[in-house]
Amino acid sequence: MGFYSDVLFPWGMNWVMSGEEFQKQRHAVLQSVSGKILEIGFGSGLNLPHYPQSVKQLVAVDPNAGMGRYTQQQMLKSDIDVECKVLGGESLPMPNESFDTVVSTWTLCSIKNIEQALLEVKRVLKPGGQFIFLEHGLSPDKKVSRWQHRLNGLQKIIGDGCHLNRDMRQLIGDTGFSDMEIENYYFPNAPRFIGYMYRGIAKK
Ligand SMILES: C[S@@+](CC[C@H](N)C(=O)[O-])C[C@H]1O[C@@H](n2cnc3c(N)ncnc32)[C@H](O)[C@@H]1O
Repeated sequence: MGFYSDVLFPWGMNWVMSGEEFQKQRHAVLQSVSGKILEIGFGSGLNLPHYPQSVKQLVAVDPNAGMGRYTQQQMLKSDIDVECKVLGGESLPMPNESFDTVVSTWTLCSIKNIEQALLEVKRVLKPGGQFIFLEHGLSPDKKVSRWQHRLNGLQKIIGDGCHLNRDMRQLIGDTGFSDMEIENYYFPNAPRFIGYMYRGIAKK
């Protein structure tokens, strides 16, 4: 932590990621969310207005306490009752099989021990529960992936731990979900090295 992580990054991230295209994509991916919900990497709470009206409460985790002032603003505007916890996804205090849905948007790129966090996601999901994700990561296009590897170190600094070159299909697939559907595309009007998207559902 430090001034950049606590203050500048939350401000910049909240500003950039509240853009119109982000909102459109948040809305689309969250429509199949139901039951008891956990969101990992809650950030500044930008998903809150996009949950279906049927969602009345959720549990949210994020290790960056500096997001707090922005999440408070979102929570004040929302009817959803949010139980916010300042902690990372690698070690969740929730019991096994306690959620119907786990949500992650643009978060898996930033989790230090991603494999451990995905195992935690699977552990807390009920049998048949779904992991809903919208992430950026490694492109299959060699010209793009070369730049993703080159720029990864810089991005980790600017993006407060964000990796450009994680193969989300492989990482989520290796976690042992029973079924997985992924759609890949480039985020409109974004540089390709940061805009290769993985949107999908993995079922336990
Ligand atoms: C790019 S932001 C996205 C925030 C939010 N999910 C959104 O869609 O606006 C990445 C988020 O991952 C969070 N993060 C970093 N390390 C994490 C970890 N170990 N477990 C869970 N979240 C983490 C950061 O604090 C940050 O809020």
